[in-house]
Amino acid sequence: MRILVTGGTGFIGSHTVVELAEAGHEPVLLDNLSNSDEKVVGRLTQITGKEFPFYRADIRDREALESIFSKEDIDCVIHFAGLKAVGESVRLPWEYYENNINGSLVLTDVMRKHGVKNIIFSSSATVYGTPAFVPITEECPKGQCTNPYGWTKSMLEQILTDMQRADEEWNVILLRYFNPIGAHESGLIGENPNGIPNNLMPYITQVAVGKLDHLTVYGDDYDTEDGTGVRDYIHVKDLAKGHVAALSQISAKCGTKVYNLGTGTGYSVLQVIKAFEEASGKKIPYEIGARREGDIAECYADPAKAARELGWKAEYGIHRMCEDSWRWQSMNPDGYR
Ligand code: NAD
Ligand code: UD1
Repeated sequence: MRILVTGGTGFIGSHTVVELAEAGHEPVLLDNLSNSDEKVVGRLTQITGKEFPFYRADIRDREALESIFSKEDIDCVIHFAGLKAVGESVRLPWEYYENNINGSLVLTDVMRKHGVKNIIFSSSATVYGTPAFVPITEECPKGQCTNPYGWTKSMLEQILTDMQRADEEWNVILLRYFNPIGAHESGLIGENPNGIPNNLMPYITQVAVGKLDHLTVYGDDYDTEDGTGVRDYIHVKDLAKGHVAALSQISAKCGTKVYNLGTGTGYSVLQVIKAFEEASGKKIPYEIGARREGDIAECYADPAKAARELGWKAEYGIHRMCEDSWRWQSMNPDGYR
């Protein structure tokens, strides 16, 4: 299939381009580079030996999209483009709703005008809010999000579901990611956060490379085995493969489908630190701090539905995730700069 990958130079988008190309699909990349670097395109060619069309464009730019859809014979869109920093979304709610929601409305409008009614959307486990139960199945009710970023995911799920209900030609796949970490084994592409990272793994790798001096563990008084927060970390390569697997449902005219993409196993913050130290040989100095507002004690997936219906299962464990995150960070201490 010829697939438009919005956010194609971003962290998850770039890894998905590799897996799509390796599975014989033809990815076409679109990104406004607000949180990524054009160098990624060359690195993707280095990894795969293939050239990819790249459009530096914004999903809110109707004219640019019209021209791409007229020129490229797109079968399906994998839609990663969006702003994703939780704290920033609390400070800049309008900007988040405008970019993520308006952008997706413009994108899907141009898609339908061009008869492209297949979309795989990057959603998040954040839509479960404080989950009613763990492990989280897709039947777990959606909850109250604690920030505008989370609400954009929850609302876009609803918008896409309603569009499909009104027009059965649409096929909509909502993929709820758990916590993607790791990087391609080449060390050529990886996560490249702007400024001080908010998420655990990029923070740890920047401590390891000497850019930050220590990690603060957000709370050790949760009701978990060691008191620190438990999450379902998933290797970004496994996550990327989940998108390739989801394409089979698009071909089967699936209507609307929702899948959790996680491993099914939770690790605490202290367990991740230990695994990282073992994988990298680096000591990670840390101190215990207060809980972070909006955090939950534990969040991990029941990934059985994706296994059953997509034939997809995460393969990589926490040690490999840490090794690959470390290789990327140590080979690229300043990201793509
Ligand atoms: P990322 O920031 O690395 O990638 C997103 C890309 O979208 C960036 O390259 C950015 O430049 C681009 N972009 C943003 N707004 C755009 C616009 N208006 N037009 C065109 N391009 C635009 O983030 P990521 O980690 O690769 O995440 C990809 C998607 O997955 C996002 O939608 C994110 O919300 C979602 N997601 C990520 C995580 C995670 O932990 N990384 C978890 C759940 C869901
Ligand atoms: C966070 C977001 C979530 C988003 C996801 C991916 C919040 C409340 N949630 O999820 O909406 O979908 O990122 O972008 O921001 N931790 C530390 N010290 C740190 C950083 C994190 O102890 O410096 C702990 C956290 O308390 C948590 C775990 O590490 O227990 C994972 O945190 P993080 O990587 O930020 O992911 P989530 O909180 O799961």
